[in-house]
Amino acid sequence: MENSSFTSALLKWFDVNGRELPWRGISDPYGIWVSEIILQQTRIDQGTDYWHRFMERFPTVEDLAAASEDEVLKLWQGLGYYSRARNMHVAARQIVDQGGFPRTIEGLRALKGVGDYTAAAVGSMAFGLPAAAVDGNVYRVLARHYGIDVPINTTQGKRAFTALAQDLLPKYAAGTFNQALMDFGAICCTPVSPRCDECPVALTCEALRTGRVGSLPVKEKKLTVKERRLTYIYIRHQGMTALHRRAEGDIWQGLWEPLLVEDAQLPDLGCPLKLLAHDVKHVLTHRILLADFYLAEPEERPVLPPDYIWIKEREIGDYAIPRLVEKLFELLVKL
Ligand code: ADE
Repeated sequence: MENSSFTSALLKWFDVNGRELPWRGISDPYGIWVSEIILQQTRIDQGTDYWHRFMERFPTVEDLAAASEDEVLKLWQGLGYYSRARNMHVAARQIVDQGGFPRTIEGLRALKGVGDYTAAAVGSMAFGLPAAAVDGNVYRVLARHYGIDVPINTTQGKRAFTALAQDLLPKYAAGTFNQALMDFGAICCTPVSPRCDECPVALTCEALRTGRVGSLPVKEKKLTVKERRLTYIYIRHQGMTALHRRAEGDIWQGLWEPLLVEDAQLPDLGCPLKLLAHDVKHVLTHRILLADFYLAEPEERPVLPPDYIWIKEREIGDYAIPRLVEKLFELLVKL
């Protein structure tokens, strides 16, 4: 189906309407890979700033491999989903150990944090490998155009949409076509209020013909996400504060935070605790966090568990912290 009119219409549309992005038109697999990891859970405009900062600080995969995890996380701060940064750091060391970027889909897929989508995206854009990169935009465009109502978040759906995308992929322009589908989904065939009047393939769109643009793609409902309650106590003592590093096996691994109390009584720190905010809501993919923030200003430095360190308050900016903790710090500044 390589020469399908859908494929050629999209390539033509992309030629005119494709976005100018800084990692387009480069062939450096490292820069392309960094962009794909950043864009996994981040919007293009925010992602672009981070991409520039990242590439400036770590221009090559060797620079990234040589960095400390702390520095990588610090640069990532604010983007969320920090396992992306940690995995990327591990993968950079894998790449350097192998003597360079793998040039096959299997080789790319073996890098930490690289799944089918990212392997296909990097492989097609950097090396011209004929692999379809199926992201959320692609699911939506194909579900609508071909009128497919298999839920996109099921194994069956993933298989069906990947097979179709692979079928439509022009082998001579795989990277271009992958990006054409992404941009088309982001600009024209948008989740809400798609621009069907400007669509180059509206005439053959099955969803448009059958009045299902608003109901496709179909997603299977997941169970409701659970709540998790956290209480943070920011301790201030003679210009110092206490932080600890989050351990493995939980959210925010490797990031820093103030005294955390979970499922337990508030501790006695020898002074009253001042409530700064109650039930601050922070939404993660599989959890809703509800946080209380307190400030404690004891006369004596309290004894804390051994994994806490005392740092100067004005050096807090040197530590990578979760966005939720940043909200606490923002309240402190306003006091
Ligand atoms: N989303 C992720 N990667 C992208 C790319 N290369 N172009 C457009 N959108 C994207």
